[in-house]
Amino acid sequence: MPQPQVHLVISQKGGVGKTTLAVNLAAVVSDTLGGDPAQPPVLVASIDPQGSAVWWAERVDDEQLPFDYDQLDDRPDDVAKLNKLEEYTHIFVDAPGSLARPAVLARALEVATDAIVPVIPEPLAYGPTERTVLDLIQPRNLPYRVVRNLWDRRDGRLDIDALTEWLDGQGLAYTNTVVRRFKLHTTAAAEGRVVTQYPSNRTATEARTDFLALALELGYGGRVA
Ligand SMILES: Nc1ncnc2c1ncn2[C@@H]1O[C@H](COP(=O)(O)OP(=O)(O)O)[C@@H](O)[C@H]1O
Ligand SMILES: [Mg+2]
Repeated sequence: MPQPQVHLVISQKGGVGKTTLAVNLAAVVSDTLGGDPAQPPVLVASIDPQGSAVWWAERVDDEQLPFDYDQLDDRPDDVAKLNKLEEYTHIFVDAPGSLARPAVLARALEVATDAIVPVIPEPLAYGPTERTVLDLIQPRNLPYRVVRNLWDRRDGRLDIDALTEWLDGQGLAYTNTVVRRFKLHTTAAAEGRVVTQYPSNRTATEARTDFLALALELGYGGRVA
C-alpha cells in the first residue's frame, strides 16, 4: 500500500511561520490534488502544545476545509504511526518552537520523509535555524529545505540578501521560492481562512502564488507524468 509523505515543518525559533507554512501548504497541495473535502488527501498534524494549527483549522468552515487535522502533542504513539495512514498522500506536521515535547518530536523526526525549515530575514533567526538543521535534521539524514519567509518587499533587498548570503555561507539548502509578507496571511487564522480561500483580487493572488510555487518547487504537487 502507498505510504503518505510526511513533511515536518520545524524550527527551534518561534514566529518564523511554521504554522502558516504547514496550514497553507496543506491547503494548496490538497487543492492541486483535487482533494474532496469529504475525504481529503492531506492531514495537518500538530505536535505543538499551543495547537495553533488546530485553532486555525477549527475556525474554517468545515465543508470548505481542504484537509483533515489532528492534535498529537501528547500522543507520541500516534505520531509514530503517521506514515501508516494510507488514506492520506501528504501529512504536514506542525512542530513547536521549543523542544518541550522530546518524545513526540523524536517520533516525528523518525517518520518524516522531509523537513521544511522556515526562516525570516532577521539575524536573530539565523542561529536557531542552523541548530535545527545541524542538531535535529542532519543527524537523521533527513532531506530538508530552508524556506525564506516574511520578506517584506517594502524593506528592499538588503535583509533578504543578507539572509541568502548567510545560508550560502553555511551550506544550508533552501528553496528558490521566497514567501513574502502579506497582511492577508497574518489575519487569515483569526478570520478562519486558508490560502486557497483568499479572494481573487491581485494582492490575494500574489499571496497565494507564493504557496503554489513553493509546493511545486518542493515536488508536492503530484507526480509529473
Ligand atoms: N508570509 C507571511 N505574511 C504575513 N504574516 C505571516 C507570514 N508568515 C507568518 N506570518 C505571521 O507571523 C506570525 C508567526 O507565524 P506562525 O506561522 O505562527 O509562526 P510559528 O508557527 O513558527 O510560530 C503569525 O502572526 C503569522 O500570521
Ligand atoms: Mg506555530
